[in-house]
Amino acid sequence: MTPRHFLTLLDCTPDELRGLLARASELKSLLRDGQAHESLRHRVLAMIFEKSSTRTRVSFEAGMAQLGGHAMFLSPKDTQFGRGEPLEDSARVMSRMVDIIMIRTFEHDKITRFADYSQVPVINALTDTYHPCQLLADMQTWFELRGDIRGATVAFIGDGNNMCHSYINAARQFDFHLNVAAPPGYRPDDAIVAAAGDRVSLYDDPAQAVRGAQLVVTDVWASMGQEDEQRARERVFAPYQVNAALMMLADKDALFMHCLPAHRGEEVTADVIDGPQSVVWDEAENRLHAQKALLEFLLAATPL
Ligand code: CP
Ligand code: NVA
Repeated sequence: MTPRHFLTLLDCTPDELRGLLARASELKSLLRDGQAHESLRHRVLAMIFEKSSTRTRVSFEAGMAQLGGHAMFLSPKDTQFGRGEPLEDSARVMSRMVDIIMIRTFEHDKITRFADYSQVPVINALTDTYHPCQLLADMQTWFELRGDIRGATVAFIGDGNNMCHSYINAARQFDFHLNVAAPPGYRPDDAIVAAAGDRVSLYDDPAQAVRGAQLVVTDVWASMGQEDEQRARERVFAPYQVNAALMMLADKDALFMHCLPAHRGEEVTADVIDGPQSVVWDEAENRLHAQKALLEFLLAATPL
């Protein structure tokens, strides 16, 4: 049987995504009420990290433990993965031993190739192109605080990166409008934008993009793997900082989200990220609940 993967938000139907968010909130309540819920007892998650992580590692590992399963952390430093064993071979071997595999890597093509050779579900825990798990948490946060996002206006300010691409896919799947403000040369991928049709509008000017937005989102200016470009990017992105003046142009009840880690004084000022419109801590916590719902969903199709 071909396993169900989660490589982008487009791997689920809009109804499935909404179902995942509802389940995530349910699992959150169960945990808060102290009720044990071990739906993944004896299940094993392998976590391959080719890039650093705090939230993703902690949330997947804690989530598997809470659901009665086990998670193993694998870094390229300590595995044959980092010594050049073909990923197709790693996929075939690992998927005979574990129930589900999570990967954080560079080129998106690596995870699609891995998934092609895996007998078990593969979860994208960030590639250079997409970060779909973060969008589950962001959407859960919105739904819990504001209700359905259908018809809302969201502004993504900054780099047309993996987070921006996943917001574009979210606009398609959750039926909201996304305004993206990015400097020329750093806009999101043309094909990803084109596929979203009139769900997405591109702007040069962040002030125009945030006008009327109910949710303002940003991300780092230099992503993992772009550390050498940090200085050059600081110059290009300076006019794209999310600060109090920019937030004033958004809807008066607008929320602010950031996937974290954040750089205060760069893409966002401290008064915004630590201010009353920011929901970044709920957003970070929801990684745990949303991914538990995702693990249950993907494993439901493969009984022990
Ligand atoms: N937002 C996010 O994915 O954080 P980590 O890099 O800490 O996992
Ligand atoms: N765009 C950032 C997201 C980190 C969670 C990166 O890829 O480094």
